[in-house]
Amino acid sequence: MKITVVGAGNVGASCAESMVRMNLAEEIVLLDIKKGFAEGKAMDMNQCATLHGFDGKVTGVTSDYAATAGSSVIVITSGIPRKPGMTREELIGTNAGIVKSVVKSALEYSPEAVFVVISNPMDTMTYLAAKESGLPVNRIIGMGGILDSSRFKYYLSQAMSCPPSDLQAVVIGGHGDTTMIPLTRLASYQSSPVSEHMSASDLEAVKASTMVGGATLTGLIGTSAWYAPGAAGAALTASIVRDQKKIFPCCVYLDGEYGQKDICLGVPVVIGANGWEHIVDYQLDDQEQAAFNASADKVRAMNAVLADF
Ligand code: LAC
Repeated sequence: MKITVVGAGNVGASCAESMVRMNLAEEIVLLDIKKGFAEGKAMDMNQCATLHGFDGKVTGVTSDYAATAGSSVIVITSGIPRKPGMTREELIGTNAGIVKSVVKSALEYSPEAVFVVISNPMDTMTYLAAKESGLPVNRIIGMGGILDSSRFKYYLSQAMSCPPSDLQAVVIGGHGDTTMIPLTRLASYQSSPVSEHMSASDLEAVKASTMVGGATLTGLIGTSAWYAPGAAGAALTASIVRDQKKIFPCCVYLDGEYGQKDICLGVPVVIGANGWEHIVDYQLDDQEQAAFNASADKVRAMNAVLADF
């Protein structure tokens, strides 16, 4: 089993490190365009093998797509990250060209792979990958909702002083500060609605913090976050390579589901060896559906910008 992570920046390297520690594959190929960069990061990770107790290896390469041949999963993290004050949307021009060329090169060597897109603006980059690759849509998955849901659970756990692992909470819609939809109605604390454990205003505050979760970190660190984005990419990849059939909120191509067509947007899906296997219908109420439609409108407007690149 081989998995490729394209982009050895913070998110890509963190994702590869999570994967090797989880023993997800015999080989994880980390590819970057910057000479020696992926090689160095891979060597550093491999020197953790006896410390963390893993048997797989990370192979770092500079733009050598032949080394990625036969990968089961290709995770795309390449592109420029956000600087403080920037939205994910502002990255579109630069990252569209990068993602397009990565998909083309990787597909040549791994025609059977499932593609996981993390590059921002993620919903638009996933749509671009779906259109450019010509692959069956179930093999193109955007990763944003798993990260946003993890942040949602973090903020809920802070507000409720409980362990995040006792919480179930999902974010659907776009992976943008104004397009994501933390589903507060469905969030639960060991099967009881979180609304029974905090005030409505505290729950609204948790929702608001979740939506700007990435921007908060960018403001603190000076660039995009990487630990949780990398771990979320690895969790998604684990469900693919281990055929776990986990339900994760992921950005997938919608053809009428959730009332939307010809767009990639975050919805709950079952993830297995073939990519996303089916979409789970959460039966949104009118308010949630209106928020989902508004999110789709914004993402669709961003997708329209792709025509310029
Ligand atoms: C974030 C970036 C990875 O949300 O989109 O931190």
